[in-house]
Amino acid sequence: MKEFQRLLKYLRPHRLTFVLAFVAMVFGALFQGAIAAMLVPLFDQFQPAAVKNSETLFALQKLIPEDDWYRAWLMISVLLVSFTVLKGIAEYFSSYLMAKIGQAAVLDLRQELYAHLLNQPASFFERHRTNYLVSRIVTSCSAIEISVASNMRDILRDGLMLIVFLGGAFYYNWRLMLGAIITAPIIAILTAKFSKALRKLSEEFIESNKLLSDTAQETLTNQTIVKAYSAERREQSRFAEAARRIARAHLRSGQIAATSPPTIEIIGVAAVVILFYFGLREINFGRMEASQFFAFLGFLFSSYDPMRKLSRQHNQIMQALAAAKDVWDVLDENDALPEKPHAVELDSLKDRIELKDVSFNYQNENKTVVRNLNLEIPKGQMVALVGESGGGKSSLIKLIQRLYDPSGGAIFWDETDLRDAKITSLKKQIALVTQETVLFNETVRYNISYGNPDVSEEELREAARIAFAHEFIEELPNGYDTIVGERGTFLSGGQRQRIAIARAVLVNAPVLILDEATSALDAESERLVQKALANLMQNKTSIVIAHRLSTVRRADKIVVMERGKIIQTGTHAELLEKGGTYKKLYELQFAEEETAPAKAQRP
Ligand SMILES: Nc1ncnc2c1ncn2[C@@H]1O[C@H](COP(=O)(O)OP(=O)(O)O)[C@@H](O)[C@H]1O
Ligand SMILES: [Mg+2]
Repeated sequence: MKEFQRLLKYLRPHRLTFVLAFVAMVFGALFQGAIAAMLVPLFDQFQPAAVKNSETLFALQKLIPEDDWYRAWLMISVLLVSFTVLKGIAEYFSSYLMAKIGQAAVLDLRQELYAHLLNQPASFFERHRTNYLVSRIVTSCSAIEISVASNMRDILRDGLMLIVFLGGAFYYNWRLMLGAIITAPIIAILTAKFSKALRKLSEEFIESNKLLSDTAQETLTNQTIVKAYSAERREQSRFAEAARRIARAHLRSGQIAATSPPTIEIIGVAAVVILFYFGLREINFGRMEASQFFAFLGFLFSSYDPMRKLSRQHNQIMQALAAAKDVWDVLDENDALPEKPHAVELDSLKDRIELKDVSFNYQNENKTVVRNLNLEIPKGQMVALVGESGGGKSSLIKLIQRLYDPSGGAIFWDETDLRDAKITSLKKQIALVTQETVLFNETVRYNISYGNPDVSEEELREAARIAFAHEFIEELPNGYDTIVGERGTFLSGGQRQRIAIARAVLVNAPVLILDEATSALDAESERLVQKALANLMQNKTSIVIAHRLSTVRRADKIVVMERGKIIQTGTHAELLEKGGTYKKLYELQFAEEETAPAKAQRP
């Protein structure tokens, strides 16, 4: 029920449309009743002249000419056709309006869901597979739409039909109707009894079948013991008992199955016969015309159909509510880092970013990824993070971007703790280029100007030139309007990187983070990307994670990380002189590059 109420919240803005749809449904049901009521004047035409124009629903008989059967027929035909047309129109509007409400509600819900997802941080998407989320957006939402547009419509429509049919039957003869209402439960109970008995028997079947196979299996597997103790006779009778039980169950169910349809038929006929008796009685007492009696029967039997349809709605509603619950589950899960009510707008960096005693572990892991780490990143400098894979470098820069909050210690942007800053203002300060650049399946122009779509053509081309991308873009089939393919597959890795760099150039954020931006490239494209990066990094504060040490030699500070800790800091020259991990790493790579001529090109 909670789900249902929450669903209603989405329908509330469409109250007016709903009222219109409901009015259309009421009219549809009334016209349906009028169509059925036309049976009375029609039937009257077959009667002796004395019983013309008995009363019918909505006093429709008054419209029928009395003296001339031809004119009466004409009028009846006109009325029947018009009612049918009007009913059709009413049903069209009710269906259309209900569909409109369903679509509008789902549009709102989908958008709310999407906005919620876009608001979630990385941790949320680590927990949920994309498929799961997409199916919530697509499948669950459309289940809800169907439940509004068709289930709710059918329930209301069939409910109204039922009211009109039962009401009509009451109108023609309430005594008969009361009788019918009293006998209906008897028939229902009898039918239910039969099906219950059958269900019980089928359980008995399964049970006795199991007994039979268990007995046979046991005896046959243990037949050496059976023989050794000469127990064949005993086993034979044990088996016979089980086999008889099955036979009995089959016979009994055959009996019930064979008696149930005729019994129900007999009960049905008995009901009809009794109905006829009372009908004739009413007619002979002059309380009812024959035409009215048939109209009564028509209304009574017609009410069966909406009743049957209504009883089936339950399942569908349950399914829709289950779908709704799936959507609420996603909506109610919120990982977005809280922003303090009085969070401050971050100014561009004046002095330094400082990590003080920072520790961090991912929620779903108890391993500490960053341990009591202290680091200063002065404005305008290049700080490089190197070290073994899994050492915590990427996690560290996620903390600087505030994708997560540290579990201990704090990160300061000049004097401001990142947790006191507006998240959007932090995002504006930082541009990011990672190893795997994923582009959108759109034009090169769209991808480069993703961070600021309103940029001028001149600025766009200038950014591409700075990123060494302009030349290759010009050579693409449609230049800047070339579609790059899903995830940018029409471009090489180096080209994708340079587009990402052009994007970062346009955003012009004062702090730059490069996470293995060149690691996936071959030596030739790496050289171009390196040059593009050098352009991008001019006059910026940059944090560079690099696997190839050649790229970080000119860093102002190199930080070597191992298992979440800083084990060495210094410039390239200082670290080489000191010896230790960095020197070892460097010599290892140096040897590799010497023996691999393809990669021998070092700057
Ligand atoms: N989203 C995550 N959830 C849980 N553990 C993670 C996640 N990302 C990284 N880790 C773990 O954190 C440790 C540090 O990883 P990472 O920061 O990516 O190291 P590096 O970038 O230095 O290779 C690794 O042990 C890794 O398995
Ligand atoms: Mg990494």
